[in-house]
Amino acid sequence: MHDELEAVVVAFDEESGIATLTLDRPDSLNALNARMRTGIETGLDRLAERDADAEGVAVRAVVIEGAGGKAFCAGADINEFSGTSPGAFEPHTMRDSVGEFPAPVIAKIDGYCLGGGLELALACDFRLASESSRLGFPEVDLGILPGAGGIQYVARLADPSFATELAMTGEHITAERAADAGVVNHVHPDDEFEEEVAGFVETIAEKPPLAVRAIKDSGNVAVESDRHAGRKYDRRVFATLLETDDHAEGARAFADDDYDPEFTGR
Ligand code: COA
Repeated sequence: MHDELEAVVVAFDEESGIATLTLDRPDSLNALNARMRTGIETGLDRLAERDADAEGVAVRAVVIEGAGGKAFCAGADINEFSGTSPGAFEPHTMRDSVGEFPAPVIAKIDGYCLGGGLELALACDFRLASESSRLGFPEVDLGILPGAGGIQYVARLADPSFATELAMTGEHITAERAADAGVVNHVHPDDEFEEEVAGFVETIAEKPPLAVRAIKDSGNVAVESDRHAGRKYDRRVFATLLETDDHAEGARAFADDDYDPEFTGR
């Protein structure tokens, strides 16, 4: 599947179950405009439809990347600004769709990842960055703040003081510094980046998909509720996963080294 939506290209490899959403406005460093936000939502909806039509699970992982080799995304499109940070006041935003998408979503950051672009990456489950990438919240220089939860995300991943420093200074920090703070999962040398990301995504895509999805949900529950509610969720889902074909398949492969398991998401 290869869909050219507005400002976003969606590719889906049926064999691996890996989807790629490419932010495709390289001349504007993939700045997020209304068309791109709609494109991301529509792309995710199309992928969700594939899942609904499949027996078991079709989509194993989604990668979001930027076209052009210079930026993941340089933030909200400044030309569309009208005094508010886009996405800040919408009841359900494109970033919620990313966070709530059932399969894991990986931000592949190669180049500038700024403002609303960093907030998009933060809504993903994982952030992988090339060494030369630069991340930051430049909104302060426009007299505003990251309006789609950026400070909140960073405060939880790193600490509140790191988050406010990033947003108050508007500094572009290195991928290494972002990783040290816990904001980025892994940094790789530029010339190894493609290969490393592909390996990471394939590893996750090959795991039993219902367990992967349950783990994603559990991570979200951990952030959004207290530990008691989280443990209750884990216990309930654990019991459900024990009943799946994938669990039986995994157990069989554990017992028999020569058996190659095939996980279907059932
Ligand atoms: N919105 C709209 N257009 C943007 C943009 C944004 N957020 N970021 C970059 N662009 C456009 C530039 O206007 C330029 O367009 P042009 O070629 O028509 O002049 C093009 O992308 C290339 O950017 P340029 O500034 O020439 O590249 P650079 O390498 O000199 O600098 C950045 C790169 C990222 C440092 C710089 O573009 C920048 O600071 N962008 C704004 C970042 C920002 O404030 N984002 C948060 C918005 S809330």
